[in-house]
Amino acid sequence: MDPKCWHVELNDGHFIPVLGLGTHAPEEVPKIKAVEITKLAIDAGFLHIDCAHVYNNEKEVGQAIRSKIEDGTVKREDIFYTSKLWITFLQPDLVRPALEKSLKNLQLDYADLYIIHFPTALKPGEELLPEDEHGKVIFDTVDLCATWEAMEKCMDAGLTKSIGVSNFNHRQLEKILNKPGLKYKPVCNQVECHPYLNQSKLLDFCKSKDIVLVAYSALGSQRLKGWVNQSSPVLLEDPVLCAVAKKYERTPAQIVLRYQVQRGVVVLAKCDNEKQMKENMQVFEFQLTSEDMKVLDGLNRNLRYAPYQLLKASPSSLWSMPDMPVTPLQNLHEMLPILCPS
Ligand SMILES: NC(=O)c1ccc[n+]([C@@H]2O[C@H](COP(=O)([O-])OP(=O)(O)OC[C@H]3O[C@@H](n4cnc5c(N)ncnc54)[C@H](OP(=O)(O)O)[C@@H]3O)[C@@H](O)[C@H]2O)c1
Repeated sequence: MDPKCWHVELNDGHFIPVLGLGTHAPEEVPKIKAVEITKLAIDAGFLHIDCAHVYNNEKEVGQAIRSKIEDGTVKREDIFYTSKLWITFLQPDLVRPALEKSLKNLQLDYADLYIIHFPTALKPGEELLPEDEHGKVIFDTVDLCATWEAMEKCMDAGLTKSIGVSNFNHRQLEKILNKPGLKYKPVCNQVECHPYLNQSKLLDFCKSKDIVLVAYSALGSQRLKGWVNQSSPVLLEDPVLCAVAKKYERTPAQIVLRYQVQRGVVVLAKCDNEKQMKENMQVFEFQLTSEDMKVLDGLNRNLRYAPYQLLKASPSSLWSMPDMPVTPLQNLHEMLPILCPS
């Protein structure tokens, strides 16, 4: 397949397509839709597909990838597939079985990238969000450096080409980078990133360590009820952003995706329809001036759509930093179906 999408080199020598398809869908969307959407996306030129065990759709996404390989649209090596290690599997002996489970669901021999979903461990077991009798999430104590070593072994075993992390701050990244005997550096850190939360400091840090920052919720998130504050501003309706879009005769979505591409960020876009997929793929067809990049930088307001800081409230996590506020877990109960779609 003639790649429509640029690639960047990772610190382990593999290449990642700069634009990826997000596959996290609201729980009311039938899982089977993921087959159709992923096939459409591959037809539109998406070669990078971002998924996770916790999205509960790896069977469908894998089915779509295999069908596009079987019909000759792509070869396995054209596709860059990311899966994520869910946080009930952070104990080192659970890491490889968790990846093997994902591969079994996908019916693929390897992942291109396997990342630790969050730097916080929950109690291992069947439940994706284990709770005590009071409905409080049960954390676990894990040395994430040991988890990382298990990730390295998965790479050595050929189960994944690259390994990385997600939702890590710079100190958490440093813990891994400074680990005695580190064999492989994380190739990426996948975090929420868009003009309202442009992560410029974390981006500079990642660049200084040759770690690619991968942006999620780059279009302003899916604004899922009970998950994202519904009174938060809608990114794609921002007047400054809309004025930039008008100037380039592009859509606000194309501008925010292009913004990331131009600052060296790999960007994910969740979309369900063919028209928007094609529109998003056009980010490689135009360029923003440095003045307009600064205008977009100026929109930053440290607004985080995803309330994942709740998961940082682990009392026992090695990764709880002294300056990290401990947030009460009061809303987590309502979020369970969204975090763990059935
Ligand atoms: N590592 C993590 O913890 C983490 C967390 C969150 C997300 N992610 C990953 O990142 C992916 C993307 O993030 P996200 O799911 O928050 O959503 P997003 O990429 O910010 O997309 C938000 C919405 O934008 C809409 N959209 C897409 N293209 C558009 C266009 N051209 N014009 C107008 N609207 C457009 C989509 O609507 P429709 O759905 O109606 O098409 C989508 O619901 C996820 O799916 C997941 O793979 C990872």
